[in-house]
Amino acid sequence: MKFPNELISLLASVQWMAALTGAGASQESGLRTFRDGQSGLWSQYKPEELASPEAFQRNPKLIWDWYAWRREAIKGVRPNPGHYALVQISRKVPGFTLITQNVDGLHAMAGSPEVIELHGNIHRVRCVRGDGVAGDWEEGPDGIGLCPKCGGFLRPDVVWFGEELPRAYLAAAFEASRKCEVFLSIGTSSIVQPAAALPYAARNRGARIIEINVEPTPLTPKTDHFLQGKSGEILPELFAAVWNRQIRG
Ligand code: OAD
Repeated sequence: MKFPNELISLLASVQWMAALTGAGASQESGLRTFRDGQSGLWSQYKPEELASPEAFQRNPKLIWDWYAWRREAIKGVRPNPGHYALVQISRKVPGFTLITQNVDGLHAMAGSPEVIELHGNIHRVRCVRGDGVAGDWEEGPDGIGLCPKCGGFLRPDVVWFGEELPRAYLAAAFEASRKCEVFLSIGTSSIVQPAAALPYAARNRGARIIEINVEPTPLTPKTDHFLQGKSGEILPELFAAVWNRQIRG
């Protein structure tokens, strides 16, 4: 892609940048975006009907099994060139903050040193009664993870519909957005709040907004640069164009 000169010189000198990723950033790793259909057994359910505290209360086994299926589906999934390009960009921009709505952990796997995971991480669980987080667990007789401390059910450490986002993470995401000179929105439909408000917080403080997406979103009319295409292709090209370097595997 040929990038406008104005965009290249803006990025070449940027000191403070925030980047927000959504499911589209993982699409080229082989993961379905959130608004795609589900397969097989799970196609009869809408994610909204499964990813809620009420659903877990009603039928913990069903929800536990759905997450086990999702974890299995992302086993073996690897970061794509877009994830790696963000690691490279973070090394060039001194005040770089990476914020993600994805729960797949692929940014960390690619080597991004710090990631604000606004919607949690599917590889972790926590006790329904407390907030201790764990990366491994034992399952009880019906297959649901049990808290080693209190024996209560474990649940995935992700944000469900109707739940608040982790306060400290949300505050850090807004702080980085207000502070940045450039806000990069990548592979997100820009409709799910409060993450969708982050580029507006940046724009209200004078930041330039750059969006990378295969199709326009409600944010597109507010952007300074809309780069239409796949993030796994555009991000490495952009990095090469601005910092004059190719990314090595
Ligand atoms: P969506 O599935 O809503 O949107 C994915 C976006 O990625 C769409 O705008 C696609 O056009 C775009 N896209 C697809 N492939 C792409 C590619 N290769 N390169 C660039 N863009 C691509 O996913 P999110 O916006 O992440 O929340 O959804 C936000 C939240 O909605 C999720 O985190 C989830 C859901 O409710 C929770 O679970 C709390």
